[in-house]
Formats: sequence, structure tokens, C-alpha cells
Amino acid sequence: MRYLLGIDIGTTGTKVLLVDERGEVIAGVVNTYPLSSPHPDWMEQDPAYWWQAAREGTRQVISASSVNPREIAGVGLTGQYHGAVLVDNRGQALRPCILWCDQRTAQQSEGIREIVGREKLLEITGSAGFPYFTACKILWVRENEPSVYEKLYKLLLPKDYVRFKLTGTFVTDVTDASGTLLLDSRRRKWSGEMLQYLQLIPDILPECLESADVSGYVTEQAAQMTGLAKGIPVIAGAGDQAAQAVGNGIIEEGLIICTLGTSGVIFASTDTLCQDPQGRVDSFCHAVPGKWHVMGVVQSAGGSLRWFRDSLCQYESEQAGRTGKDVYQILAQMAGQVGIGSEDLIFLPYLNGERHPYCDPLARGVFFGLSLRHTKSHLIRSVMEGVAYGLRDSLEVMKELELPIREVRLSGGGSRSQLWRQILSGVNNTDIVTMNSTEGAAFGAAILAGVGSGIYKDIQEACSEMVRPIDAIHPENKAVALYNAYYGIYRSLYPLLKRKFLELSRVTHPGAVK
Ligand code: XUL
Repeated sequence: MRYLLGIDIGTTGTKVLLVDERGEVIAGVVNTYPLSSPHPDWMEQDPAYWWQAAREGTRQVISASSVNPREIAGVGLTGQYHGAVLVDNRGQALRPCILWCDQRTAQQSEGIREIVGREKLLEITGSAGFPYFTACKILWVRENEPSVYEKLYKLLLPKDYVRFKLTGTFVTDVTDASGTLLLDSRRRKWSGEMLQYLQLIPDILPECLESADVSGYVTEQAAQMTGLAKGIPVIAGAGDQAAQAVGNGIIEEGLIICTLGTSGVIFASTDTLCQDPQGRVDSFCHAVPGKWHVMGVVQSAGGSLRWFRDSLCQYESEQAGRTGKDVYQILAQMAGQVGIGSEDLIFLPYLNGERHPYCDPLARGVFFGLSLRHTKSHLIRSVMEGVAYGLRDSLEVMKELELPIREVRLSGGGSRSQLWRQILSGVNNTDIVTMNSTEGAAFGAAILAGVGSGIYKDIQEACSEMVRPIDAIHPENKAVALYNAYYGIYRSLYPLLKRKFLELSRVTHPGAVK
């Protein structure tokens, strides 16, 4: 039997997963680390945490499984998109990584749109160039920390920093590169034109490979630190959403994955680069050669519920501690006592700005319709429903783009909630299917490793061996009708509030850009 290792460099922790070649999970571990926010709206992380979490996690899964490291055929990497990791010529990080959820770069993204032009940006990169893209972050460093920028040798994405530690190579893959705004997404190559527009030199970019290609081999030093065998291949891998899609078999048109993690994502595999002329969703390269995908993101999905838990559910958290229950289970039970629509309470999940379809870092969370009859249970349910409405926004754009929607598969931590599955099915009027793997992007990375190491001939073959559906929820007519009415109101709220979000931000930040 051969084994595969998937490593997912997440925002709150790194997951290391060991699976066998048929997709059975042998061992898995998540090692967590903190985020830092040195200023409001900034989100940073020290790359050293990732390497520590990845190498310790690798040792832990090898020892928990008793698998002989020589039987591990390959390592697949995945991780958070968009983060800017600036390293010097020894691969040392020059500053903390500026993460995907950092909101400091409104000015730079505005500047890029002015220089390049919105249409050109869409044509080259598939995206309208919003603040979360890595290019905005590198411009911010150039403008604000010139002494750091001066030492820049390579600009890496988070998983690629860990790759450097494992293999000594500077490489990324087409999916993660799509999230930089520096890739020609149609040709799946770095864009000379974008580099010229932004006056960046090509040398700062790592080599860009297809996701299942071999990017290097575990070095002697990395072998000693991780317990892996020297010389095993490390596969290019994919950004977390593309890997998540592979892990759920979303590799052909008509299949959609909805991921409820910290952020919430709607991701459709497409056979061509399908762009929204209004830039309301991103169009990136998929991990499957010759395929692309369209993606819409709710910035705070599980993040909204986590915020609610941390800020307002101390009692429930203590109760969970006392009874050994999961606090989210307790919250879901409370929400389940409330009817569809939370008795006319609508939550806008814009706690950390919103990405799609508005791309507005200044948007803020709202409970709309609060009344004396509402209890904590109503608030919890409305948070869950608000996230589902936000995801429907992106699905609606995909319908407008005439993308076929055959099946929606749900993954991520939120998919464990039966109630959230029902809400999503009702709000979106679709079947919600759950797959065998609940291990997310790390599982997709392991599948890519299965292809890159030669066990499978391609991603299609690997998915058909390793991925299968286990459960489906069907929408109920009554729920669909009610949710349609609530969604109509939800959708009308952002345009009404847009200007007010800007005014609100100017109270404390008079120079805010919009
Ligand atoms: C995708 C994105 C998120 C982060 C979170 O564009 O920003 O998926 O990668 O992990």
C-alpha cells in the first residue's frame, strides 16, 4: 500500500493528513497558531508558525499511523490564497505575511484599477482587482516599507513558503498564482503585461506549475526535521479552494462546491475561462489542467458564527465545557427552535467587509428587523441564514453567466450542521450533497499528490477512486418560497446602506478610500 500526505496551511492552523492511495484517512492532525492585527483592518501571520506546524504535524501523523515513511509516495501542498510572503535570497521571511483577510490595501487596489483599467484587468487576470489580491499587498510594501521591499528576492504564497522549507525550490501553482493578480489566467502563465503595468520585475516571481506537477523533492535537512524520507516528490498543489474542490470531485462543469469555513465560498468548475463583465465574481485557473473556475466568497461565513459565539455566547460555551458537547451543536439546537426567516430578522454578514459580489472592505455587519420578540436563538439562526443569503448572491451571478448548476456539494466545518445544510438547500433551492471526505483542502492536496507521484494517471481518475457522495438534502417547497421573499429583502439592503458604510468609516478614518 502506498500513502499520500496533504498539508493545508490554513489561517488558524495547519492540517496534516495522511491517506492511503484509495483515499482512506489514516491519520490527521491540526496544529493551530495565532493571527496578529497590529492595526485595525490589518491581518498578519508569522510564516515560521506554518513551518513549525507543518513539520511537527508531519512527525505526529507518521508516528500515530506507524506508516513507514518510505511508503509515502508524495506530498501535496495547499493553503490560504492571496497572502504576500516576502523572502530574501535565503528564503527568510522579511516581514510577517499580509493575509488574505487583511483590509489595508484599498488605495493600492484602486490605483491598480486606474493604471490597468477594469476591463483590461478582467481580460488578463479574470478578476476586477480588489484589495485581497497579493499584487495590492506587494505595492503596499513598496510604498510603505521600502527598506523591506529593497531586500525582496521572491514573492511567495503561504503554502509555497513551506514548499521552500521542504524542497529548497521557489515554486507556486496556477491556482494560487491566479489569486495574485499577476497571472494571465487564460494562458496560465505569469503576465508580463501586468508586471509592466505595476513596474514589478519578473524575477521576484516563483516558477508557476500546474497543480499536479512535481515541484521538488524533500531535502536531507527537511527529512530530518519532518520524519519524511529524503527525495520524495512534493507536488505543486493548489490554493485551498481549488484543493477543496478537487477533494470533493468538483472537476467538471455543472458541479459546484459550497464551502462553509471561516469564509464561505461558492466555486463552480468551468471548461473555459468564464468571466463576469461586471467583475462580481473571480475567475481563476482550476487545479485540473485546461479547466478554470468561477468563485464567489462571503468574507465572514463560519467567521460570523464564531464571532457570535465568542462575543455573545459565554454561557453556552461554559455549558459545552461542562457537558462535553460542541458549542456549535448547542447553538444549532437553539437556532433550530426558531422558524424559517428568524421571525423577520435578517443578518448581513459583512463583519470583515464583503468580497463578492460587492467587493467592499467598508461594508459592516447588520441585524435588520430586530424587535422585542427576538431572542438569542433568533440571532443565531439569522446569522446562519444571512451567510446562506450571501452565498446565494454568488450563485445568482453564476446563473446570470449561464453556468449549469447540476449539483451543489457542501464542505467545510459548517457542513457538519444539519440545520445549516437545510438552510442552504432552502435558500438556494438546490440539493445539498455531502461527500465522503470531511478533511477539506488537505484531502484534495493528497489527491493531487496521488497524481503527481504517478499513482493515478490524472485528477479525474484519482477523484473517481477516492471521492464519493454519502448524503443529500432536498429543498422543501415551503422553505424555498419563504426564503425567496427574505432573500429579496436581503439583496436590497446593501445598495441602500453602501453610502452609509462609507460615511461610517470616515468618522474615525477621514481619509478612507472608496
Ligand atoms: C479565497 C480565499 C480564502 C482563503 C481562506 O480567495 O481568500 O479561501 O484562502 O483560506
